[in-house]
Amino acid sequence: MDIRKVAVIGAGTMGASIAVALVNSGFQVLLKDVNQEALDGGIAKIDRMLASLVKKGLPQQEADQRKALIRTVENFKDLADVDLAIEAVLEKMEIKTAVFQELERHCKEETIFATNTSSLSITEIASHLKRPERMIGLHFFNPAHLMKLVEVIPGFDTSDETVSRSIRFAQSLDKLAVRVEECASFLVNRLLGRYMTEALWCLEEASAGIEEIDKAAVDFAMPIGPLALRDMNGADIGLAVARFNHQEYGERFKPAQILVEMVSRNWLGQKTGRGFYVYDPETRKRTSVNAELEQLVKDNAVSQSKKFTPERLFLPMINEAFLALQEHVCSLDDLDPALMAGLGMRMGPLAIAEEMGLAECLSELESHFNLYGERFRPAPLLKRYVRAGRKKLDRRRTSDTKQVLLSK
Ligand SMILES: NC(=O)c1ccc[n+]([C@@H]2O[C@H](COP(=O)([O-])OP(=O)(O)OC[C@H]3O[C@@H](n4cnc5c(N)ncnc54)[C@H](O)[C@@H]3O)[C@@H](O)[C@H]2O)c1
Repeated sequence: MDIRKVAVIGAGTMGASIAVALVNSGFQVLLKDVNQEALDGGIAKIDRMLASLVKKGLPQQEADQRKALIRTVENFKDLADVDLAIEAVLEKMEIKTAVFQELERHCKEETIFATNTSSLSITEIASHLKRPERMIGLHFFNPAHLMKLVEVIPGFDTSDETVSRSIRFAQSLDKLAVRVEECASFLVNRLLGRYMTEALWCLEEASAGIEEIDKAAVDFAMPIGPLALRDMNGADIGLAVARFNHQEYGERFKPAQILVEMVSRNWLGQKTGRGFYVYDPETRKRTSVNAELEQLVKDNAVSQSKKFTPERLFLPMINEAFLALQEHVCSLDDLDPALMAGLGMRMGPLAIAEEMGLAECLSELESHFNLYGERFRPAPLLKRYVRAGRKKLDRRRTSDTKQVLLSK
């Protein structure tokens, strides 16, 4: 059965941009939030997104037609005939569970239930439902109407039919749909977390300055430096995510102390006007580096034992990629395209590892492990490739994937 009508529950940052992604591909959308005020806020966001598409060349008439595909509703009973319901409410298990129980009460039997959670267990949400086989994770990236990746995450009981319908649906949005097995932070944010934290360790150990780290990352493979990105998303959010990953994965995800210090000083980034950089309070444009922070780092630096190299930023991400492959979190073919589509990297971590040389990559991890410990412990799978004398990882990127990555 085809998916035509989709409910989006939650009209916040993600719900609004998911709604735009849907209407861009011609789906009918029923947008639901707790009250009219929240719905109005969502519609205002949608208007801004469509207006920016018009600025980029979308005809106004086409934008109006897309907008007309969206209807707001206040009651779950209005969602009875949707083919798919995508939930994007607050990141709280009890709120999400209550939403899905309501949906289960009102929607038809074939409706697929998807959550856009960033961190909660799909299996746990589904365990509160009578029919967990139709529950799945569809993890969009912010802003959903522009970012090219959707992680498709089945729970323990998700049926094969739900998985294949969800993948086809995500592809019909002109997205790269990557099947990811459930794990904390899923695939892309798990690997991103290792790289973001390593950037903070480099700074904390005074191996490199703020601008040097950001420039190295951008020159190497990234669309934006890790510290500028942390300022965009907020140090408080970053610390909460880092603590969650640390709790789930252990020592290699230990948050850098500098992040704790920044949160305690309210240096949260763009939203408070000061993070790694300083921002103009009016325009929010970056004016300078946070010199006070750089001085603080210099005064407290514990070791300067290894010279900074851009590769160091990516070694933990590469190693985590091999750990994720070992756990069969995704396929070898999907890993690099997922990171490229999700983060805008110019090349994925596996391609970086091949370019460095797998043996060289292992030897660098070992030498960093001897100095810095657990967070550089080489993944057994990487060791196996090196012991087998492999130079390449035998993966093939499909033409479909290339098309999605290249399309605007
Ligand atoms: N913001 C991101 O970058 C991002 C990226 C990927 C995934 N996510 C996930 O998406 C979800 C939503 O995040 P967000 O940033 O859009 O949050 P948000 O705070 O911007 O929006 C949440 C919306 O949900 C509404 N809501 C709360 N309870 C509800 C209920 N019972 N029924 C209907 N609506 C309800 C709120 O009124 C609000 O409009 C979270 O699970 C988050 O982890 C966020």
